[in-house]
Amino acid sequence: MIPRIYIPADSGALALGAEKVAKAIAGELAERGIEAKIVRNGSRGAYFLEPMVEVATANGRIAYGPVKPSDVKSLFDSGFLTGGHHKRWLGTPDKIPFLAKQTRLTFARCGVTDPLSLESYKKHGGLNGLTNALALTPAATVAQVTESGLRGRGGAGFPTGIKWKTVLDTAGDRKYIVCNADEGDSGTFADRMIMEGDPFVLIEGMTIAGIATGATKGFVYVRSEYPHAVAVMNKAVEIARKAGVLGASVLGSPYAFDMEIRVGAGAYVCGEETALLDSLEGKRGMVRAKPPLPAHKGLFGKPTVINNVISLASVPVIMDKGAAYYKDFGMGRSRGTIPIQIAGNVKYAGLFEAAFGMTLGEIVDEIGGGTATGRPVKAVQVGGPLGAYFPRALFDTPFDYEAFAAKDGLIGHAGVVVFDDTADMLKQARFAMEFCAIESCGKCTPCRIGSTRGVETIDRIVAGIEPEKNLALVTDLCNTMKFGSLCALGGFTPYPVMSSITHFPDDFKPAPVRVAAE
Ligand SMILES: Cc1cc2nc3c(=O)[nH]c(=O)nc-3n(C[C@H](O)[C@H](O)[C@H](O)COP(=O)(O)O)c2cc1C
Ligand code: SF4
Repeated sequence: MIPRIYIPADSGALALGAEKVAKAIAGELAERGIEAKIVRNGSRGAYFLEPMVEVATANGRIAYGPVKPSDVKSLFDSGFLTGGHHKRWLGTPDKIPFLAKQTRLTFARCGVTDPLSLESYKKHGGLNGLTNALALTPAATVAQVTESGLRGRGGAGFPTGIKWKTVLDTAGDRKYIVCNADEGDSGTFADRMIMEGDPFVLIEGMTIAGIATGATKGFVYVRSEYPHAVAVMNKAVEIARKAGVLGASVLGSPYAFDMEIRVGAGAYVCGEETALLDSLEGKRGMVRAKPPLPAHKGLFGKPTVINNVISLASVPVIMDKGAAYYKDFGMGRSRGTIPIQIAGNVKYAGLFEAAFGMTLGEIVDEIGGGTATGRPVKAVQVGGPLGAYFPRALFDTPFDYEAFAAKDGLIGHAGVVVFDDTADMLKQARFAMEFCAIESCGKCTPCRIGSTRGVETIDRIVAGIEPEKNLALVTDLCNTMKFGSLCALGGFTPYPVMSSITHFPDDFKPAPVRVAAE
């Protein structure tokens, strides 16, 4: 058996030098006259260990990382092709603590399989969910998804099954499945990892959604900053089409479903579902007033399911193992698992899939290992640029939609960005207003004008001009934006601003004025 070497081609691993490592390994193989198969897999998500190279040995896979090109010669000398010891030796990947503590349902294959091998996908349980869905009526599939308790992983946490049922029950000569892969939240990369590391799971999830709701066409709307994901998705769609997974007769059934990949032009607001639809239709991305809901009148005016990548990629495991299996994980109304993305100033950055319910403190201190700088954690922003900053005092908050809402926060797309004690929360509050001003689609006044006035008012606090009066004005402005904005961009910007003011009041006190000595 020729040795098999796994080297990630995931963007995160590439950014950390995986391509150079792959070239060095290929060069060394050629020089030593060794025949081996190099598989370019996705990442398992332990980015602090990337580039993580794995070899298939008689005792299973053995990982090495983070590997530098300069390590390659000595890796060969240490017999790494048979799992030999080396300073980069990590052992069995599944036993690496960061990976061993996870519950991998949605990301079960990510980093394990060859992303573009349908055979490898099937060998690891791929297409079981779709096969099961084809044996059910569309209504029964929708009932399974509802029963699983799956809620949208894009931000709003809306029950996926209810959305699908609305589209199923709405008459239309054409219906669409739109996958939201705009992934604009700061510190998030789960969608990208799935598209690059296990593209068929998204294709399978979208196909099940199509069959369950009567939609025959799907679009994945990917942000332009994800060229590798776009390339992998395009190739995977082609392979799925050739294999009869997509097309006029899905897996030989009477159902038709096909899909295309579309690239956005780069605007945060185009992740908002109705602005995304405008953009997909070739227009400038502007938020649409609701009603009508996209489920009734969405893409090109037709009934449309819009779901996040992770929501759709979680459907195959639900349809494979059953709603009850999935629902068994989690707490309260937050069922199943959530891929938490740990980023920012943190020691162990990466993707950690776990059942809902871990506390924020466990995630930051135990899994993330605290800050990379070694300084105390000051704040953690959860849920992207519109999410609240949590102080250490709130670290007992469980990762659960309702628990976060009860603390005036949100889970969003489950991005967790860590800041140490050098962070200036007044600057972060200003940044939130500035971000909103830059990204606002301009349709409604509280967001378009309010965010610019917000920046100006915070600047007056910085300059020491009537700080108390201006702080009260910012609070008032936040209330207007929260309750008067058309969408969550203007409506949620108050979360990072108000949480900064509430939890870090010292940062909003005017700086002591220094009087020059006479
Ligand atoms: C300003 C703004 C940006 C958003 N960006 C994204 C995004 O990048 N990806 C995403 O899936 N949802 C995003 N959403 C949420 C979507 O509007 C929508 O709720 C989601 O696509 C629905 O899918 P889900 O139910 O599977 O989460 C954003 C919402 C707002 C208001
Ligand atoms: S809140 Fe902002 S982004 Fe949303 S519709 Fe209003 S102006 Fe557009």
